[in-house]
Amino acid sequence: MIPGVLFCCFLLLLVFLQWHRPKDKRLPPGSMGWPYIGETLKLYAENPNSFFFNRQKRFGDIFKTHILGCPCVMISSPEAARIVLVTRANLFKPTYPTSKEKMIGPEAMFFHQGAYHSRLKKLVQSSFLPSAIRGSVSEIEQIVLRFLPSWKNTTINTLQEMKRYAFDVAMISAFGEKQDLETEGIKHLYHRLEKGYNSMPLDLPGTPFHKAMKARKLLNETLRKLIQKRRQSRREGGGLLGVLLGDKDNEKLNQLSDSQIADNIIGVIFAAHDTTASVLTWILKYLHDNEDLLEAVTREQEGIRSKIVEANRGLRWDDTRRMPLTSRVIQETLRTASILSFTFREAVEDVEFEGYFIPKGWKVLPLFRSIHHCADFFPQPERFDPSRFEVPPKPNTYMPFGNGVHSCPGSELAKLEMLILLHHLTPTYRWQTVGVEDGIQYGPFPVPKWGLPLRVGRRNKTATP
Ligand code: HEM
Ligand SMILES: *[C@@H]1O[C@H](CO)[C@@H](O)[C@H](O)[C@H]1NC(C)=O
Ligand SMILES: *[C@@H]1O[C@H](CO)[C@@H](O)[C@H](O)[C@H]1NC(C)=O
Ligand SMILES: *[C@@H]1O[C@H](CO)[C@@H](O)[C@H](O)[C@H]1NC(C)=O
Repeated sequence: MIPGVLFCCFLLLLVFLQWHRPKDKRLPPGSMGWPYIGETLKLYAENPNSFFFNRQKRFGDIFKTHILGCPCVMISSPEAARIVLVTRANLFKPTYPTSKEKMIGPEAMFFHQGAYHSRLKKLVQSSFLPSAIRGSVSEIEQIVLRFLPSWKNTTINTLQEMKRYAFDVAMISAFGEKQDLETEGIKHLYHRLEKGYNSMPLDLPGTPFHKAMKARKLLNETLRKLIQKRRQSRREGGGLLGVLLGDKDNEKLNQLSDSQIADNIIGVIFAAHDTTASVLTWILKYLHDNEDLLEAVTREQEGIRSKIVEANRGLRWDDTRRMPLTSRVIQETLRTASILSFTFREAVEDVEFEGYFIPKGWKVLPLFRSIHHCADFFPQPERFDPSRFEVPPKPNTYMPFGNGVHSCPGSELAKLEMLILLHHLTPTYRWQTVGVEDGIQYGPFPVPKWGLPLRVGRRNKTATP
């Protein structure tokens, strides 16, 4: 009797809930897969690109799914992505796993919205504007000139080498050109922290995550020492750290706290180096596979080199603004490789969206890669063809650095370090892949398999007509 009544109540409740979802509140189409695991297994079994592509074909540009324990809405039209990232960005907050937040530091700007975010964003942006980084050209050139000879006549793991390069550039951007006593310690601890970034967030003795968190604590202390030293000496010093130390909120005169500064310094190093290194690895791969293009880029760089050598000076910012073909190679690499395939947002309230209903708490993922690989915007999308950028892409179809309030403040620096490397690499060196395996690995960004092992040698100038 009682179970019967309960069952009826349950049925009534279901009917009631159905009625009370107004007809216009329609969820986007799509399949939610199995309870809890949803479509996660399918995402990993298929490769991510075909997972997104197949669903987009079947359900359209806005579809729902369920991955990693969360209901999600995936977005692959430029207009809808713009709404999420720009026009109604206040309704969609950034969201990251708590383990990432703990490792980078909860006060890093990625995790925030509103006044705190915009205060930090302005500071970080100001220290990576062209006017702020143009003075770093010769410093970055020195780093390149230290690296290149060490690659000669050996087999390098391209991704690892590019990480070392991008890390060194990130360090001078963060702390300035003058080394502090603490620099070596910070480098060492950061590398220990880094080992845990993509581990299971299992905080038990011995796990990579646990070791990373230990390194994070020590890094916290080392950074605090450096911050206090710079505060006491009243010399803020260079780099982003100098900018953050110098900031006083004009009204309240309140400085950023040590933790706010430390978390954002670590955040920027994190955001700056694997990304840039992965893109550089792809550039070497694409130039290797497209010989004519490599020769054309080489000619462009040789033209600039010969002027510089003639004038007996170093590379300057203005030189880097006269590399149109090399710049298009970078643009096309950013499109083709789309190393940030998508980003995560979360609906902060129930949202009406393009005729659909997105419930509060659902994740919303603008799919950069799907937009960059859509034949309507980039004909023959799988072809590597820098000449497509001779005309600007259609609005909102090209977002390698994101869009809106959370877009990348480091884009100019990233492009600058790629230009400087190619300027010295292409006229003097050539590279051959080692092993024949073509393929992609995720770590977590997509890169060529095994990090692209290369054999680097001097360029054989006689061989080129
Ligand atoms: C080629 C290399 C890079 C790529 C492809 C890239 C891409 C991106 C993208 C797509 C976003 C937006 C993420 C989102 O909306 O959720 C982002 C954010 C960010 N990037 Fe980059 N980035 C690169 C290099 C750098 C560098 C060199 C720096 C350091 C200066 C940097 C610092 C940041 C920071 C601090 C954010 C967070 C901004 C915010 O939350 O407001 N990135 N990046
Ligand atoms: C760094 O240290 C400060 C003060 O001891 C603490 O409040 C903060 O939570 C620490 N941050 C991390 C990420 O451990
Ligand atoms: C690199 O190899 C070339 C040709 O095989 C040789 O002439 C040159 O001496 C080598 N350089 C170094 C630094 O080993
Ligand atoms: C360099 O070019 C010459 C002449 O074309 C050729 O004989 C030689 O094998 C080439 N060497 C390499 C290392 O490619």
